[in-house]
Amino acid sequence: MQMMVNWNGTLMPLQDARIPVFDHAYLYGDGVFEGIRLYNRRIFRMDEHLQRLYDGIRHLDIRGMIPYEELKQRIIDTVEASGAENAYIRVSVSRGTGIGLNPENIDQTPNVMIAVTRLALYPPEMYETGLHVVTVSLRVPTPDSIDPRIKSIGRYVGNIQAKMEANRQGAGEGLMLNAQGYVAEATGDNLFLVHDGVLRTPHPSCGILKGITRQTVIEIAHDLGIPVREEWLTLHDVYNAEEAFLTGTAAEIIPMVSLDRRPIGDGRPGELTQRIIREFRQRTREIGVPVPAGVR
Ligand SMILES: Cc1ncc(COP(=O)(O)O)c(C=O)c1O
Repeated sequence: MQMMVNWNGTLMPLQDARIPVFDHAYLYGDGVFEGIRLYNRRIFRMDEHLQRLYDGIRHLDIRGMIPYEELKQRIIDTVEASGAENAYIRVSVSRGTGIGLNPENIDQTPNVMIAVTRLALYPPEMYETGLHVVTVSLRVPTPDSIDPRIKSIGRYVGNIQAKMEANRQGAGEGLMLNAQGYVAEATGDNLFLVHDGVLRTPHPSCGILKGITRQTVIEIAHDLGIPVREEWLTLHDVYNAEEAFLTGTAAEIIPMVSLDRRPIGDGRPGELTQRIIREFRQRTREIGVPVPAGVR
């Protein structure tokens, strides 16, 4: 696979890609992004990712974005040019180019970057043994500051701080609470718990990114006849869960076996978790927008 970048419609190898130093996302984090996976030359849940991207663009009032179908075609072309079978696709959109906070004083032509690369969030063995997680002090932003439902570039400075806090404690991931102390999400993943055969996950109003992997898990659960409850959860619910796992495009689905050094259930990946992971892997092989096998 050749790592490829598409910068505003021009394709180039990753090492040749450059961004203008006054790009508004580079200067201020003023933009949105998506991470999408390619499995066996199929772009998994592409429309759901792009819908979320365009929802964020509308919310932030980023003007002059290229049409949906054009973005979709650019992504397909970039993947095709990379020759990748499996990859991580990053789509970043910044408001434009220029210094100063006021968008009226900059060139408001969005910069649209697509990169086809690789990303492994956790070591492979952790998918078998499970992840140790700690509760971090950093809270998710409230919807009256940066709405956590927007995958905005700037908000990730907090998530990076949360990840570093977890790293310092020797944990693989950090669990963030919302301002009221309810459980929200991990730094790049949503949380699911198993209680008496029921899947429980924080409600979108708790301050989470409404994950596309999360949605896929909810669909899998419905198909398997497993009840799902989206609700406001506290640490009490996590400490008393029988099983837990995290979901995300980069993370995929990974069992979570402890929180704050307390084992969840028997401290090993649970049966229901493993069933859902198997079903998820099956779906990644079957669902998705196919990419033509291009000539390179
Ligand atoms: C903060 C946060 N929560 C949850 C997720 C999981 O979302 P998705 O499954 O759409 O990748 C991500 C990753 O995109 C994220 O950054």
